[in-house]
Amino acid sequence: MSANQPAPAPAVTRLSRYTKTDQDEILGTGDDPFGVAGAGLTWLPKEEHFGVRLDGRLVAHAGLLRLPVAIGDVETEVMGVGGVAVAPDVRGRGLARLVLSAALDHARARGPRHALLFCRPPLVPLYQRLGWHPLDTEVRVEQPGSRVVTMPLRTMVTPLRDQARWPSGRVRLYSLPM
Ligand SMILES: CC(C)(COP(=O)(O)OP(=O)(O)OC[C@H]1O[C@@H](n2cnc3c(N)ncnc32)[C@H](O)[C@@H]1OP(=O)(O)O)[C@@H](O)C(=O)NCCC(=O)NCCS
Repeated sequence: MSANQPAPAPAVTRLSRYTKTDQDEILGTGDDPFGVAGAGLTWLPKEEHFGVRLDGRLVAHAGLLRLPVAIGDVETEVMGVGGVAVAPDVRGRGLARLVLSAALDHARARGPRHALLFCRPPLVPLYQRLGWHPLDTEVRVEQPGSRVVTMPLRTMVTPLRDQARWPSGRVRLYSLPM
């Protein structure tokens, strides 16, 4: 490869499993690597996992989980996206864009018309840059003990099909958040 040519993008692979050890490999063993502990929520693990390895080391991940939801009076499903993580020493190189793009390509074949994620407010501009839109409506999610709570984090959505339009109205996730 000549010095002038950009390095090829690393491959995104489907991971057969994603454990706490895998997450620690990316984010380290800190108490709150996603910065969401303050929200005090219980989260669902994801079902499908996508990752990037550099020199054999797992450095990026995005997870998917299909979830039932009501948006206004529309009962449907969304593809929940979660566990988006890039190792601190390789951030800012497009790895979140790469791994999310592969996960969403997979999600497009799965049925839901939209993907949805929750994030801290400072990450809204980053996800907007990746084609996501913040919702300004109330989003309610389930928590243990049959509780339903208002999501304190920002909710963002992106279409998975051409011309998919997000219905208007309050959002109610019929599950724990992912
Ligand atoms: C959030 C996180 C995944 C981003 O990973 P990353 O690999 O650095 O992100 P990327 O390099 O792919 O950047 C994505 C895009 O956002 C842009 N971006 C980054 N910071 C931005 C900001 N503050 N405002 C607007 N755009 C921003 C980048 O320029 C890039 O766009 P481009 O490809 O058009 O240049 C990483 O910081 C992380 O793992 N944080 C800790 C865990 C976490 O909070 N995860 C999110 C859970 S919702």
